[in-house]
Amino acid sequence: MTGDILEYLGEKEYVSGEVLAQKLGISRVAVWKKIQRLKNMGYEIIADQNLGYCLISRPDLLLPQEIQRGLFTNYIGKEIYYFPELKSTNIIAKGKALHRAEGIDEGTLIIAERQSAGKGRLGREWFSPVGGIWLSVILYPQLSPSYISRITLMTAVVVVKAIKMCTQIEPQIKWPNDILINEKKVCGILTEMSAELDMINWVVVGIGINVNIDHQKFPEDIQENTISLKEVSGKEILRVKLAQSFLRVFEKYYDKLKRKEFSSILKEWKLYSHTLGKKIKVDMGERIITGEAVDINEEGELILKKEDDELVEIISGTIV
Ligand code: BTN
Repeated sequence: MTGDILEYLGEKEYVSGEVLAQKLGISRVAVWKKIQRLKNMGYEIIADQNLGYCLISRPDLLLPQEIQRGLFTNYIGKEIYYFPELKSTNIIAKGKALHRAEGIDEGTLIIAERQSAGKGRLGREWFSPVGGIWLSVILYPQLSPSYISRITLMTAVVVVKAIKMCTQIEPQIKWPNDILINEKKVCGILTEMSAELDMINWVVVGIGINVNIDHQKFPEDIQENTISLKEVSGKEILRVKLAQSFLRVFEKYYDKLKRKEFSSILKEWKLYSHTLGKKIKVDMGERIITGEAVDINEEGELILKKEDDELVEIISGTIV
C-alpha cells in the first residue's frame, strides 16, 4: 500500500527517509519504491539527499486515501474499492453486496476514474470518461422495499447540496432523479436493489456527475442536453472535495431516512424541484400520461393532475 506512507510524509516539509522507514517498519529502499509509486500516480514529491522527502502536491484522483483524509463519516466511505477503469461501478457493487456476510459493510463504495460500460436508467448507456465522479454506494437499509424511491429522491437532494457547497451553483432536480443545470443534465442516479416481499436485501446507489468534462467530449447525441460543472463554473472542480461533500451529506440524510424522517428531505426536494408546477408527459412503460406535476407525496410518488382534474400517483416513470 502507498496510502500508509502518505500519513507520515510531510506536506510542504521534509521528512527523512530514515524516519519514514522506521515509522513504516520497512527498509529505506522500500520507502524509495513507495515514493516512486506515488510519483507515478501523480503525487509531486521532491527528494533531497540530506533532508529526505517533501510532498508538494496531490493529484485530483479519487483515490481512497485522498477521499478518506478528512472525510469524518461514521460508515459511508469507510471501505473504498478504487479502480482506474472498470465496466460499471454498479455492476461491481452489486456483486460485492451479495457478500455482506463476508465483511462488505454498509457504506462500502466502488469508485472509478472511468467506466467502459457505464449503466444509465432503462438500460441506457452512461458516458463516463476520465474527469467525472462515477461511484456506487452499498446499503442494507432495514426498510420496506417501497422506500426505494425515497432513497433515490434523497440522493438527488444530497447531490444538489454537495454541488452547491463546492461550486456555489444551484442545480435543480427533474423527477425522479436527474440533476439539471440550465435545463441540461449534469448528474444521473441509478438505484438498484434486491428485495424480498417486505424486506430489502441490498441497495446500490450509483451516481454519475459530469465534473471536469469538456463539452465537445460528450457524444453528439447527448451534447445538446448534457452539461458539466467545469463548463458552468469556467474552471476545474476538485473532485475529491466534491466526492467528500457528497459522502458526508449522504450519511447525514440516509441516517434521517432510516429514522423515518423523510418529510424534511422531501421539503428540500421540492425546493430544488425543476418539475413541480410544470405541465409534463410521463412515460410509464405501458402508457404515457399528461398533466401538471402538482406534488410529491410522503411515499415519494409524483402527483399528476390530469386535464380532467383527476389526480394520479406515479411511483416510477420518465418525463418525456
Ligand atoms: C441515469 O440514466 O440518469 C442514471 C445514470 C447513472 C450513472 C452512474 S455512474 C456510476 C454508476 N455506475 C453505473 O454504471 N451507473 C451509475
